Amino acid sequence: METAAELAQMNSALTGRRAAGDRIVLVPTMGNLHHGHLSLLRKARDYGDYVVATIFVNPFQFGENEDFDSYPRTLKTDLQRLEAMGCDLVFVPKIKDVYPRGPEHATQIEVPDLSSILCGQQRPGFFRGVATVVNILFNMVRPDAAVFGEKDYQQLLVIRRMVDDLHMTIEILVGETVRERDGLAMSSRNNYLTPAERELAPMIFKQLQKVRAELRAGEGDFKAVCKRATDALEAAGFKPDYFEVRRAQDLNIPTSIDDELRILAAAWLGKARLIDNLAA
Ligand code: PAJ
Repeated sequence: METAAELAQMNSALTGRRAAGDRIVLVPTMGNLHHGHLSLLRKARDYGDYVVATIFVNPFQFGENEDFDSYPRTLKTDLQRLEAMGCDLVFVPKIKDVYPRGPEHATQIEVPDLSSILCGQQRPGFFRGVATVVNILFNMVRPDAAVFGEKDYQQLLVIRRMVDDLHMTIEILVGETVRERDGLAMSSRNNYLTPAERELAPMIFKQLQKVRAELRAGEGDFKAVCKRATDALEAAGFKPDYFEVRRAQDLNIPTSIDDELRILAAAWLGKARLIDNLAA
């Protein structure tokens, strides 16, 4: 496995691959890799000929009072894990190379509508930061396909919309959410939980499952089911940001004719903001 910190080094590794017609698959990450990330690597390896991972903690997608400085950075173990997964190239760019004029002066990608609801409402500018950096990484790596996790369902839709709107020719592949044994969706931010909070954390997934079961049993009052789930989380000590049933394809409020639904939740537990979702 090759590790590149400079664009020129990455390009020289990729040029021959492109010329050989290899299918290049990108897995963008912010590092602190867990089995969720690694499952995306597996998907990339199965699909492509040459797997590129990026590790870049993107300052542009963190709000002013968010955890950019304290976000876990574990490069050494990340590289070992990527190597063990059969990753071919890891690109670890510097902030000044991704944003030569500084993040706030970079050309920005704004995906309207989808970016201002749910997580986007709670974290203004977040999806602009994500779409902007993913576009930059796409242009740097120029992959044939890229893999994103369903765990960040809204992010996945934002990326898909960007690719569609900008007529990019990159195929977007999806990795299922990888969970701990007790159902908690794996996340780098789970590290922020105290042992007591960690015990409690799987309750988000349990409530998502409960709502799914209620919907499958014919419950049509989405507001009422979500309110019950929110109340249960609150009573247990969570601070829910939202708990919603939405249209799977665009996260709009569903109408009675929509049959593809997604249940999505975000809640604070101590210092961690946890998100999760399920197909209804
Ligand atoms: P990060 O949180 O590091 O996640 C990188 C990728 O791993 C994303 O596609 C995310 O959806 C996926 N992922 C995270 N947890 C997962 C889990 N438990 N199961 C399956 N996949 C999981 O998401 C980002 O970084 C950034 O926003 C990024 C896209 C890299 C742009 O900066």
